[in-house]
Amino acid sequence: MPADSVKKTLIVAFGVCIVCSILVSTAAVSLKGIQDENKRLDRIKNILLAGDLLNGDADLRTIYEEKIQPMMIDLSNGKQVPKEEFNEVLNIEDFDITMVAGHPQYGMTIPSEKDTAKINKMPKYTVVYIHKEDNVIKQIILPVYGKGLWSTMYGFVALDTDLKTVRGFTFYDHAETPGLGGEVDNPRWKAIWKGKQIFDEKGDLRIEVIKGTVDTSGSEAQYQIDGLSGATLTARGVNDLVRFWLGDDGYGPFFKRFKEEIYG
Ligand SMILES: Cc1cc2nc3c(=O)[nH]c(=O)nc-3n(C[C@H](O)[C@H](O)[C@H](O)COP(=O)(O)O)c2cc1C
Repeated sequence: MPADSVKKTLIVAFGVCIVCSILVSTAAVSLKGIQDENKRLDRIKNILLAGDLLNGDADLRTIYEEKIQPMMIDLSNGKQVPKEEFNEVLNIEDFDITMVAGHPQYGMTIPSEKDTAKINKMPKYTVVYIHKEDNVIKQIILPVYGKGLWSTMYGFVALDTDLKTVRGFTFYDHAETPGLGGEVDNPRWKAIWKGKQIFDEKGDLRIEVIKGTVDTSGSEAQYQIDGLSGATLTARGVNDLVRFWLGDDGYGPFFKRFKEEIYG
C-alpha cells in the first residue's frame, strides 16, 4: 500500500485516535483517586477556614481529625443518622451535597415559594461538623449553598454554640465574576461576618446582607452585613442562601434539637 494512500492515512489516523483515547482514559482513571483526595482536602481546608481553625503549618488532616466531629443529620427533624444506616450515597467520607439533593430517595424538590436559595432540590440529610476541644463543643460548622448571579455558591457557616453568633463564613466553590461577585472571597468581607447575630432575642431570623454599608452605630448593625459594591445580585444571593439554610426549612429543626439536647 503506498504511503500516501487514503486508506493508509485513515488507518494511521484511526490508530493515533485509539492510542490517544487509551492514554487519556488511563490517565483519568489513575488520577481519579488523587483528584478525590484533593477534593476531600479542599473541603476539610474550608471547614477549618470557616471555623478559624487553620494555624500555620499544621497538617490539615491532623487538625481536622483532632478537632472536628462530622455528623450526618436528618434535616426534617435534626436527628443524627446512625452509622448503620450509611451506604454509598449517605456516608460522611464522600458526602456530595448536590448529588444527594438530586437523589430520588435522599433528595427532595423545594416548593417554589420556599426556594429562596434557588436550588430547586435539597438533600433530606446532610453532614454538619462539630468542633470540639477536650470533649466540649466549641462551634458548629454548617454547609450552605445557593444561587449567586452566575453560579451556585457553596460554603460553610460556623456558628457559636449559642446558635446565634456567626464565628466564620467562607465559600469554597462558585463562579461569580472576579472583582465583582467574586469579592465574596475577599478576607475583609468574610471578616465582617464574625460576631454578627443571626437571630434576635425573640428567635426571629434577622441576619441580612444589605445594599451599601452598615451604619455601625445603628441598632440593626449586629444583624447586618455590608453589600458588595457593583455586585448587588451576588450579595442578594448570599443573603438569600444564608437565610434559607439558617431558617426553618434548612437547619431550623437541627437547631431546635441541638438546643434541647445541649441545654434541655
Ligand atoms: C461582565 C459582567 C460581570 C458581572 N458579574 C457580576 C457578578 O458576578 N455579580 C454581581 O452581582 N454582579 C455582576 N455584574 C453586575 C450586575 O449586572 C449588576 O449590575 C450588579 O449586580 C448591580 O450591583 P450594584 O447595584 O451594586 O451596582 C456583572 C456585570 C458585567 C457586565
